[in-house]
Amino acid sequence: MQPLADAGQSLAEIDITSEQLYDEKGYPWEEWDRLRTESPVHWYQRPGYEPFWALTAHEDISLVARSPQLFSCRQRTAVETPDEIEPWETERERRSQVYGHVADYPAGLGFMDAPLHRQVRQAMYPCFTPKAMAAMEERFYDLSTGYVAELVERLDEHGTADVAHDLAARLPLAAIFDLLGVPHEDWDHLFAVHQDTASAFHKGYKQEEGEDAQVRFMNAMIELDRYMSELARTRMAEGGGSGTDVLSRLAKASVLGDPLAFHDISYQLFNLVQAGNGTARNAIAGGIKAFLENPDQLQKLIDDPTLLDGAVEEILRWTSVAVVMCRTALQDTEIRGRRIRKGETVAMFFPAANRDPEAFPDPYAFDITRSPNRHIAFGGNGEHRCIGAALARAELRAMFRALLPVLPTLELHGESKMLVLRLLISEFVQLPVRRKGAVA
Ligand code: HEM
Repeated sequence: MQPLADAGQSLAEIDITSEQLYDEKGYPWEEWDRLRTESPVHWYQRPGYEPFWALTAHEDISLVARSPQLFSCRQRTAVETPDEIEPWETERERRSQVYGHVADYPAGLGFMDAPLHRQVRQAMYPCFTPKAMAAMEERFYDLSTGYVAELVERLDEHGTADVAHDLAARLPLAAIFDLLGVPHEDWDHLFAVHQDTASAFHKGYKQEEGEDAQVRFMNAMIELDRYMSELARTRMAEGGGSGTDVLSRLAKASVLGDPLAFHDISYQLFNLVQAGNGTARNAIAGGIKAFLENPDQLQKLIDDPTLLDGAVEEILRWTSVAVVMCRTALQDTEIRGRRIRKGETVAMFFPAANRDPEAFPDPYAFDITRSPNRHIAFGGNGEHRCIGAALARAELRAMFRALLPVLPTLELHGESKMLVLRLLISEFVQLPVRRKGAVA
């Protein structure tokens, strides 16, 4: 059980948005617990943020996620400061100038409402079904075995390794680039560019002397746009539109009666890379940390590898890498008797819901045999639930199968560092390990 946040602190003083707080202490479990206990539907007002309703209970978040008729994704999907929003607004403006789009289109799936959302999602979904992903798992396992072998070599050579960087970052990227048909020789370039779009503004990432983060971000967006449009064009010319991969499906799709333009397709591809990379990477890194901190659970899995599926679900609950997503009320409504007015924002704190004792007995125990495990790491099972859930599960299964012989020989070594980017996603920037018992 977590201690409650400073009981002397008034609810109005509780801080759940400052980047500094997250960087210093990781997820603010105590603050979230206190809100869930005392004010689960909490009107949160702080300088620098548009006010919003902070939801921390599993039941309430599930309700909002399953009520698209009451809560829209179009207006505001993240709790961000004006500084964090500005670069994305500039990018939107750039796109509308270059391509002549109206301001809120194109957008990733997470920013759309029905019917547009359903049509774009349906076009891609056949590539992401549990069956399609099960077919890829052995390939993911082969890749993971290779990455783990390289990690072992690195450990043998240097004595330590950073599993966030040297291991966890590799499979999710390979999986998503494979799925999109990105040639192998371009992976490193695209990864670096993608990373700039995600973290150009975060203080935790080093910048070159005199570098302008805004310029770096915009250059990265332009390069991704160029690359993905080109890829879409080339692949369509090659396949003549007959393929069944994500790209071909998007190119064939009729959305609200019209085909998607190449630059709209490119945006969906960019969005898949963005949504699917950091998330799975940090679930892998967080899972490794959880096992190294809970050796009894690792031993259970070694003794009975059939527990792997349950272990993956517990890793997803435990790491809860997606932090906050927002919806906007389309009409006046109520949650737990609190009146939410049309136009107000509700913010779903997924990790807080995944430690809700009403949904999970002993929520702060990492327990791979937890059953049932109704975590909402992939969202609250509504229309917008994560389209990559089966992909992420297949990646986690493959990676932990490959890691199982090696994990018991490792221990955490030195400081691990997790940042929270734009309150959207947590990110391990370092997670150092060494061979057990090695002398420093
Ligand atoms: C551990 C890994 C992952 C976690 C924890 C995660 C979490 C989430 C969450 C919480 C949402 C929002 C749900 C909502 O608004 O109700 C979401 C949506 C989404 N995710 Fe993931 N995700 C993961 C992996 C992936 C992967 C591998 C992909 C790649 C395809 C992906 C692509 C997406 C997309 C495109 C959406 C928007 C779906 C929609 O609005 O219809 N995610 N994810």
